[in-house]
Amino acid sequence: MIGYPGLAGRTIVVTGAAGGQGMREALQLSVLGANVIATDIAPTAPEDYDGTPVEYLPLDVADESGWRSLAAAVASRSAHPLRGLVNNAGITHRTRLGATARADWDRVFAVNVTGAMLGIQHLAPLMDVGSSIVNVGSVAALTAHYPAAYTSSKWALRGLTHVAATEYGPRGIRVNIVHPGFIDTPMTAGAPVMMRSTQLDLTPLERVGLADEVASVVTFLLSDAAGYVSGAEIPVDGGFSSTAGAKLLSDRLAHSALNDSPPADPALA
Ligand SMILES: NC(=O)c1ccc[n+]([C@@H]2O[C@H](COP(=O)([O-])OP(=O)(O)OC[C@H]3O[C@@H](n4cnc5c(N)ncnc54)[C@H](O)[C@@H]3O)[C@@H](O)[C@H]2O)c1
Repeated sequence: MIGYPGLAGRTIVVTGAAGGQGMREALQLSVLGANVIATDIAPTAPEDYDGTPVEYLPLDVADESGWRSLAAAVASRSAHPLRGLVNNAGITHRTRLGATARADWDRVFAVNVTGAMLGIQHLAPLMDVGSSIVNVGSVAALTAHYPAAYTSSKWALRGLTHVAATEYGPRGIRVNIVHPGFIDTPMTAGAPVMMRSTQLDLTPLERVGLADEVASVVTFLLSDAAGYVSGAEIPVDGGFSSTAGAKLLSDRLAHSALNDSPPADPALA
């Protein structure tokens, strides 16, 4: 972990921080001296914070009254002004478009898009110059990943990110989005085996990512080291989104080259 500047003493809210990437983000930020308010839909703090000073407040990101209460609690602490928000909470629903029920579509959008929108609406007014908001998207937002509601919601989150970066930039608030690839967390533990193996076939680094590897990019974006970075989209995906499937072609050609004789005309190679 790198010691990024400007985090010590800053209050930063992280959503969905009871497990997975959100927990690693909360712990990394705390270790770097930030005053972390970790939130999650779970009523009590997870034991895994294990003595690291992370304050825990329950919050369902889809519930606007919860955001209102959180904003009031944060505003009352003038000693540690709010300087950061990580809209990390997210849910998936792995059905294709034709099989997606309206209720599931609405639920995914309520958490993945509306939750982030409410967070920005309620907490950005408490932020000052030098603050940073990080949304957690997905490589699904860069592709046509099959879970229809999830993919569509993450594309919407990209739009929200750019709108927010434009609207809040003049107040000195930066807004960015990271796009994790296949990361080892409870969310992907339930993914179909075929999805996992195919994802790895298409990922240049040929391994899954770690929650800490996403958290360290989020930490960078929250810090002053990223002071002139706003409206950016950063994949943290082992190269997955950069290949657009070309890795499969490359691998197959390399494999066939081992078996084939070279073409008579080198121009055909
Ligand atoms: N794991 C991956 O491979 C991957 C890939 C791309 C994007 N992402 C995104 O990264 C983020 C974190 O994912 P993760 O893998 O750590 O998932 P996870 O399921 O392990 O953790 C998500 C956390 O969000 C919480 N949560 C769910 N609904 C909530 C709500 N309504 N309000 C507040 N908290 C809620 C859960 O309780 C959980 O603690 C999500 O936005 C996800 O879409 C994950």
